[in-house]
Amino acid sequence: MLPDDALMKTNQIIQGDALQELQKLPDSVAQAIIADPPYFNVLEDEAWDTQWKTAEDYLTWCDGWVVQSMRVLRDDGLAFIFGQLGKREHTFLHLMSRLTQQHQFHDLIIWDRAVGYDERRDSFTPQYEMVLVIRKGERVKFNKDAVRVPYDAKTIETYLKDKRYKDMDARRAHLEAGKFATNILRVPSLKGLSKEKCGHPSQKPIALIEKLIACATDTDDLVIDPFLGSGTTAAAAQRRGRQWIGIEKDPTYVQIAQNRLQESLL
Ligand SMILES: C[S@@+](CC[C@H](N)C(=O)[O-])C[C@H]1O[C@@H](n2cnc3c(N)ncnc32)[C@H](O)[C@@H]1O
Repeated sequence: MLPDDALMKTNQIIQGDALQELQKLPDSVAQAIIADPPYFNVLEDEAWDTQWKTAEDYLTWCDGWVVQSMRVLRDDGLAFIFGQLGKREHTFLHLMSRLTQQHQFHDLIIWDRAVGYDERRDSFTPQYEMVLVIRKGERVKFNKDAVRVPYDAKTIETYLKDKRYKDMDARRAHLEAGKFATNILRVPSLKGLSKEKCGHPSQKPIALIEKLIACATDTDDLVIDPFLGSGTTAAAAQRRGRQWIGIEKDPTYVQIAQNRLQESLL
């Protein structure tokens, strides 16, 4: 049960600073944190990504909002923290090292963007981003069935020819349920002309965020996103029947997210 008080209205975008706004929320209310923070000097034209003088300043800032995120997280909850190395920036490696010393490591998800980006001449073309997953307690809520990957009909028919199985109905039902997703999540990144695009330079695909929410939460659980951007987490939570709170500093993005949710441009 979520606390029913004025301290915490759910399904709302709070315009403000992540650290300050997280500090106002009660302890242990969120089942999942989805945090896609500024990367630090990757999007060089965006003031929100270049607001720290040094990587150490950025990492110290991250320490603060991560501690607050873990405070508002339930004991069986998970915090998903996005980062990338595409332009050979490596601050995220330091962030992962730091956070896994301060908190409990749970997983490192690879978001396979399906196509490469920011072509490099002297190495393989980067195609993935990462999602560090940390947890608060020993036991977490996680529903592996929520994101099974279907087998195609031909594969099912091939597997059904395997005579080692006695109960073929049970075998068919098992195959038709699909296989468990791996921690490499292949979801195409949004192209310029994508209908989903709504004017944010690092908008994540809703299908990706939906997978995280589907596994880590149940209906009506609360998801908090401290860096809501264009509102992807809110849209995904809404689609999945979860409660949500999003924090975003930039009023232009708050407006974009509000329009997106109102117009059901999910
Ligand atoms: C990587 S983007 C998030 C994109 C989002 N996941 C989406 O799909 O649209 C990071 C966001 O953090 C916001 N931001 C930067 N500093 C912030 C702060 N101190 N508090 C809250 N939001 C902040 C930026 O304005 C930006 O929209």
